[in-house]
Amino acid sequence: MIICVCHRVSDKQIKVAAEQGATSLRELRNHCTFGSQCGQCCSHARELLKECHSEPVFLEAKIA
Ligand code: FES
Repeated sequence: MIICVCHRVSDKQIKVAAEQGATSLRELRNHCTFGSQCGQCCSHARELLKECHSEPVFLEAKIA
């Protein structure tokens, strides 16, 4: 799905950027250009980024 219509950036590109360490919109913009035209996509990109970083982390429990 296209997130930024102006720059044709997809949700997949944003997810890849998040996986590569982007944790803010500024860092996302280092990976792909978006949000610099109309700005309509910024809130959606922010939500998507938040979702990517809120996936559960499974910790190994040590049972004695
Ligand atoms: S939709 Fe992203 S800048 Fe316009």
